[in-house]
Amino acid sequence: MGGKSSKPVKQWADSPFKIIETPLHKRGTRDISKESGALVAANVMALVHNCIIRALNCIYLQAPNVKNPVDVADFLKFMRGWSLVLHMHHETEEDVAFPLLEEMIGLPGFMEKNVEQHKAFGPGMEEFDGYVKSCEQGKETFDGVKVRQIIDGFGEILTQHLTDEIDAYLALEEYDSKINWDEYTKKVAKKSVDEGDTNLEVPCFLTNMECGAEGGIHDKFWPPVPWYALLVFRWWFIPKNKGAWRFSSCDSRGYPKDLPFSNMAPLPLLLIPRTLNFQPRHAPLAPKTITILPPNNNNTNTPHFNELRSFILTSHSVIFKKKPSRVVDGFSIVR
Ligand SMILES: [Fe+2]
Repeated sequence: MGGKSSKPVKQWADSPFKIIETPLHKRGTRDISKESGALVAANVMALVHNCIIRALNCIYLQAPNVKNPVDVADFLKFMRGWSLVLHMHHETEEDVAFPLLEEMIGLPGFMEKNVEQHKAFGPGMEEFDGYVKSCEQGKETFDGVKVRQIIDGFGEILTQHLTDEIDAYLALEEYDSKINWDEYTKKVAKKSVDEGDTNLEVPCFLTNMECGAEGGIHDKFWPPVPWYALLVFRWWFIPKNKGAWRFSSCDSRGYPKDLPFSNMAPLPLLLIPRTLNFQPRHAPLAPKTITILPPNNNNTNTPHFNELRSFILTSHSVIFKKKPSRVVDGFSIVR
């Protein structure tokens, strides 16, 4: 998708749920054309799963800091987009990919373990979807802490499944000669194109796909979407719900960006004294000279913001106001 990473400086979407190392990266090769069809499929699967994990991390990291009604409405759309990606992915596997692979290798039930794992996080996803719907319908008031609690109930099972499934695909290397991977790719892609949701599902996928991952070794074939389709999404479908994709891990080109509602990382805090040109302790700044607001103006409860505030209050005289004038390292500052 062209362009460069904006190198996020805050806590990014690679935790708390762990991003999967791709089979291509593990094997230390940059030339996928020399690898088996099973490895290529496992590699694409790992990249798709990492989109799902990154977006889940975006929800987990930002949920407690989303308070403003406009932000909440957008965040609920983001959550719904993520759910659509997950459901469509597993539906495609169960309806198309797994039966086709089992038929080609002549081993019914070979992929059954994966289907069983899908069922294991089903109740957790039902609770997640139910909560999003209730909030959107105004039956419940959005509470980011509750979102985290719901994810705590299924996140580990889900991400373990997403990791295990890569090995299930690699196990198909033994049967590589029996599998028509071109037919597999066409049928899987057809289901996504025919039934994918262009308003929330595909934009959620594209804004969490991380182009340039693992040193850019996947960029020649990732994402597996024609360039003109990417442009249509970048210029039309992504902007349609642009508020929702503020919460994504990547921009509209698929390159990493900051998460606006995640907590600040320690690095910017270390830069604050220099940024503000603080005076030594014996000559404190006069009161009313500085106003500091967190990145999200409504959120003064993040641990890092409180840490910053107490650090500055004990060192200098600072007045906190509600009107920002400029932004330095993510903090709004008025002199
Ligand atoms: Fe999968």
